[in-house]
Amino acid sequence: MMNLQTQLAPCHKKGLLLRNPVVVASGTFGYGIDNTKIAGVHHLGAIICKGTTLHPRSGNKEPRIIETASGMLNAVGLQNPGIHTVIEEYAPIWATWQSPVIVNIAGETIEEFVELATLLEGVEGVAGIEVNVSCPNVLAGGAVFGADAEKVADVTAAVRRATTLPLIVKLSPNNGDVRPTAFAAASSGADAVSLINTITGIGIDISRRRPSLANVTGGLSGPAIKPMALRMVYEVARELRLSYPRVPVIGIGGISNANDALEFLMAGASAIQIGTINFTNPHAGIEIVEGIEEFMQQERVKSITELVGVAL
Ligand SMILES: Cc1cc2nc3c(=O)[nH]c(=O)nc-3n(C[C@H](O)[C@H](O)[C@H](O)COP(=O)(O)O)c2cc1C
Repeated sequence: MMNLQTQLAPCHKKGLLLRNPVVVASGTFGYGIDNTKIAGVHHLGAIICKGTTLHPRSGNKEPRIIETASGMLNAVGLQNPGIHTVIEEYAPIWATWQSPVIVNIAGETIEEFVELATLLEGVEGVAGIEVNVSCPNVLAGGAVFGADAEKVADVTAAVRRATTLPLIVKLSPNNGDVRPTAFAAASSGADAVSLINTITGIGIDISRRRPSLANVTGGLSGPAIKPMALRMVYEVARELRLSYPRVPVIGIGGISNANDALEFLMAGASAIQIGTINFTNPHAGIEIVEGIEEFMQQERVKSITELVGVAL
């Protein structure tokens, strides 16, 4: 018998135990509702919903997605129906699912993050919160919270006080070294950290002689970012292993198959999220779970925890 279970919140009263380490990433699986038939959500470790804000947002002007070499550049701009719709319409459906659903929240101020977390408190069907600290901080003139370790600590501590749910803080890669923000989140009450979000880039449409995206900049994702994401996960896992060994790392970035997932696990991730691959292969999650099982069988690995961090 193999055990694929992984615990994402070992310090939390109730914990956040996943049946397997394969999670779908925010913004690449909607609210999971439309995917239930094609993607078999019940086989996934967890589902993370689209970044959710206090009020509905229609997102940025088009074009807002372009294909790049081995990846995509997106500036969707947090299009979502708002937290009230999520609580009233989607959460009751999630409550009937076997796999936990984690709500990804995005605020422009610390107060907004706190309000979002407060509204989610006690909502059936919500298993945890992932805080996206890559949103623009309006108070700081549009800079992102995620770039500044002190701000990440403030947001994390404020949300921690507002929620009893397991709390994951999703980190931005855009300041090069993610270790200071990972440390800030872990020391301020995060149950786990997830990384990485997209890497900022631009494209130029040479026929229009203008930036390809209406927003000019976008976030690069997909296989193109995998080695960078893996490096950051490895570095953060090494750092947290020493100072916060009970704060798991969740690896994200270009994971497209079981081999990629295993690389992240060995680099110290207790679970992984898959994003861009969901657009081209909605069955990727299940295939990755099966591929990990196959590897464990071949290598006579009894528990997935035996693989986590072996390459550190
Ligand atoms: C179209 C699109 C929308 C996304 N929306 C969100 C979002 O709302 N919140 C968030 O935290 N991350 C969002 N992300 C980032 C992904 O969750 C993930 O961190 C990133 O794409 C890297 O993983 P990947 O290379 O497997 O796609 C989005 C990514 C894409 C491609």
